[in-house]
Amino acid sequence: MSYDLVIKNAEVVTASDSFKADIAIEKGKIAAVGKIDARDSKTIDAKGLIAIPGGIDVHTHFDMPFMGATTADDFRTGSAAAIFGGTTTVVDFAIQKRGEALKKALDTWHEKAHGKSAVDYAFHMIVVDLPESRTKEMDAMVKEGVSSFKLFMAYPGIFMSDDATIYRALTRTKENGGMICMHAENGGVIDVMVQKALAEGKIEPKYHALTRPMSAEAEATRRAIALADMAGVPIYFVHLSAGDALDEVRRARERGQQVFAETCPQYLYLSYEDYERPGFEGAKFVMSPPLRPKGNEERLWKGLLRNDLQVVSTDHCSFCMKAGEGKPGKELGKKDFSKIPNGAPGVETRMLLLWDAVQNGRLTANRFVELTSTSPAKLFGLYPRKGHLSPGADADIVLIDPKKKTTISAKKHHSAADYNPYEGKTVAGAIHSVFLRGERMVQGDAMTGSATRGAFLRRAPRS
Ligand code: URP
Ligand code: ZN
Ligand code: ZN
Repeated sequence: MSYDLVIKNAEVVTASDSFKADIAIEKGKIAAVGKIDARDSKTIDAKGLIAIPGGIDVHTHFDMPFMGATTADDFRTGSAAAIFGGTTTVVDFAIQKRGEALKKALDTWHEKAHGKSAVDYAFHMIVVDLPESRTKEMDAMVKEGVSSFKLFMAYPGIFMSDDATIYRALTRTKENGGMICMHAENGGVIDVMVQKALAEGKIEPKYHALTRPMSAEAEATRRAIALADMAGVPIYFVHLSAGDALDEVRRARERGQQVFAETCPQYLYLSYEDYERPGFEGAKFVMSPPLRPKGNEERLWKGLLRNDLQVVSTDHCSFCMKAGEGKPGKELGKKDFSKIPNGAPGVETRMLLLWDAVQNGRLTANRFVELTSTSPAKLFGLYPRKGHLSPGADADIVLIDPKKKTTISAKKHHSAADYNPYEGKTVAGAIHSVFLRGERMVQGDAMTGSATRGAFLRRAPRS
């Protein structure tokens, strides 16, 4: 039989199995997995390489205006960073402005992404303004394939929703099959702490973390879980950072409530100590929720093992330290930590940082695939098209060379950010090749496919 391409002799790893096999690709889809007669087909020998489904990062912010700045990465550079890092699908966030129709926000983000992405992409909708009269717009979004909505319990005056709005949004997802994704931090209390710190002359980056305590995240998590329970719908927590917030998630799951959560590599590998780097260096790590004290990460690793956490995404939200190309950078907050644009790059390093955890024995290879691809695909309506290596799925495949090592550096990354939070860190493995719908996009350091191959994905509602 002749196929467009056959990847031979790979060590295939899925969320459930690991086995040696060939993978046949036809018209951008996986046609067969097993022992394949490839005599009449183009072949790639993957002996000694691990084949996994393309990474799915369900939390990126490309071309996002925020806190007086705009992210360093737009869809071109952000998606290049993604594909070189082994991620073939991102779910980014369209942002509703106050008083604006959700459709208008979606159109704006379609325009930002269309024809510029190297990876397939979908959108969540950030909802900031939801009177009863607008709730039906959520139904229309779900029909357009935007089947999840992010709400904020933080950032008063910018993104924050009150409990009534959150409850209204949650209730609507009972009708339309959407999923509410929650940024859980008590924004009101945090604001009081921030103002007090500034009034006392505490202006350095570390005060960002010291004014956003774990309990502010745990309280909001508990409250959101109660609101979801009252509405009788599932809820998903984005960028969960605090062990105390995870305890709330675990307890709710033990009670039988459908509560899901992601964490991000920064909360597994970095810590509060990074804010105490000399000078203004700590600003590189200013993000919300903040990095937590050393020891907290062990609670998150345990949560990943126990499936209290189901997803590792990145919250890729890159700002340069210095202004450039007309874009202000983190230096906006040199004299006031509360003005440092919140966020850091991560989409390019997620897969290998987690693969390193496999080599260190923290995760099995199957769990690695589940956390970085299969589970996000299932939770966000992309499965079985994405997130699995089986016939009929898109041929989004990453080949990892397990014998190599990779040293992370801004000098060679593809993000437009002028720093990398993991600068100098060496991790196990290297991305050998990345395929998006059958096209080899990346081979080692080279982009071999079309940098604009990425297409919009309509996601299914919860079933
Ligand atoms: O600091 C962060 N996380 N910036 C991006 C916005 C968000 O809350 O996800
Ligand atoms: Zn957030
Ligand atoms: Zn985010």
